[in-house]
Amino acid sequence: MTALAHFPVVPVLLALHVLSVIIWVGGMAFVTTVVLPALAGLPAPERIPAFLEIERRFGLQARIWVLVAGATGGAMWARLRLTALAGTSRGLWLDGMIAFWAFFMLLLFVLEPMFLQRRLRARGDRDGEAARRLLLRGHAVLLALAVLVVVGAVLGVQGVG
Ligand code: HEM
Repeated sequence: MTALAHFPVVPVLLALHVLSVIIWVGGMAFVTTVVLPALAGLPAPERIPAFLEIERRFGLQARIWVLVAGATGGAMWARLRLTALAGTSRGLWLDGMIAFWAFFMLLLFVLEPMFLQRRLRARGDRDGEAARRLLLRGHAVLLALAVLVVVGAVLGVQGVG
């Protein structure tokens, strides 16, 4: 009982939170800077099918880590009583994390399985290179946002801004 009372709940949640962000955003960085450029070496009609096969494998991991990031972030938010901070200028870093997370939940659990995969496949059938370049641009924007959110979170926790 006493051992449990001394269990460092918030530090363990934070470690899991940061781990989930590392794997999720690190995977995005790998897809953006390595996989998508490398696909240019394949014949154009094979580029999008190859991307979808890679994405299918990483997509499952990404979904799991996005859920872990949300669960650990939400639990810390409640434990640290940060509710009052949300929506204020001092809590911008927190709003940024929540907005980015909510957008990815929508992307990975709704938009991608319901529309985006089908539309991407059709676009890739028409022009594999144009579809690859569009994907690269989209991933680059998301990666830049992720970097901004991570840097904002670390600075925000340190009280900068
Ligand atoms: C529902 C979504 C999320 C919530 C509620 C949330 C909440 C939190 C909370 C409460 C902390 C600890 C703050 C503290 O130690 O005072 C934290 C830390 C952190 N979060 Fe999130 N977060 C969420 C999503 C994200 C996302 C999507 C990212 C990045 C893409 C992110 C990156 C980080 C980082 C890097 C830290 C560590 C900051 C540090 O200790 O230096 N979080 N988050």
